[in-house]
Amino acid sequence: MGISTIPFPAFGYISLVLIELQEDTASIRAKHQSFELKNLQNMNFENIIIHHENQIGQITINRPSKLNALNQATIQELHSAFKALNEDANVRVIILTGEGEKAFVAGADISEFAHFSVEQGTELAASGHANLFDFIENLSTPVIACVNGFALGGGLELAMACHIRIASDNAKMGLPEVSLGVIPGYGGTQRLPQLVGKGRAMEMIMTASMIDAQTALNYGLINHVVPQVELLDFAKNIAYKISKNSPKAIATAIESINANFKDGTNGFEVEIQNFGKCFGTNDFKEGTTAFLEKRKANFSN
Ligand code: COA
Repeated sequence: MGISTIPFPAFGYISLVLIELQEDTASIRAKHQSFELKNLQNMNFENIIIHHENQIGQITINRPSKLNALNQATIQELHSAFKALNEDANVRVIILTGEGEKAFVAGADISEFAHFSVEQGTELAASGHANLFDFIENLSTPVIACVNGFALGGGLELAMACHIRIASDNAKMGLPEVSLGVIPGYGGTQRLPQLVGKGRAMEMIMTASMIDAQTALNYGLINHVVPQVELLDFAKNIAYKISKNSPKAIATAIESINANFKDGTNGFEVEIQNFGKCFGTNDFKEGTTAFLEKRKANFSN
């Protein structure tokens, strides 16, 4: 057993991470041919790896020599991958992690913005919000961040934009931007207090200190801490449970929960309207019929 990355011609240049080295390439290809990631055809990713199995899509940020720091190319690739997976009805949950054992993401790539002007800095934050951070938060497909090491600056902001966070026991999290003379610009000043409360957010941001996984768990910043070797399996187990439920109801739940944090939006009113809309879906018909027939619901794509 091990992990190998192979080019997969049927999907253009997408690389698939496969865990069955006993099989030859032909049988691996045959096995995975049913996974139609149509939206990702002809996309050539240099900084991320996509894997799709059992209705769970996995995106791995793959710049380990730079501790998976987010340069603009990676942000653009992540945008394309999240968009494509979100639009693929075969993908019910997306897992996001970083390559290697050391880092999830060590922040925005400092070398890219060190000489930026005020206008460029403003644009950097605005485009980041639109293309990645707000984009992920508002996806209709749930996203689970597997924080497998350092999640600093933009890396923690990326994890916070995801719907669920699980960390390995070696993970370290923080928003060190003020040590660089800047503030968190990818949503950190807003999402951190939402998750941990204003006082803890103030302290974390102003001290620029890292917290360990257990402290992050105590703060409510993450949902679970597990040994690093168990991280992906633990996330997949949660993803599997989610994947058995109504995708339409889950998308509607994400929208309704997010409404609580949107200025000028009455979350209760959004919930009432969205609750009503569910009654018009095939998923509602299937879910309630299955219950009354004493069988498991089968939510189709
Ligand atoms: N942007 C660009 N490059 C980064 C980076 C970032 N945010 N974080 C790490 N790297 C690069 C390093 O420059 C180094 O590259 P090099 O080998 O070409 O010099 C490589 O990743 C390894 O990092 P290094 O600092 O040598 O590892 P370390 O184990 O000594 O320290 C950290 C790890 C995470 C403590 C340290 O890399 C760090 O503080 N990173 C910046 C964190 C940060 O401020 N993020 C917020 C940005 S807004």
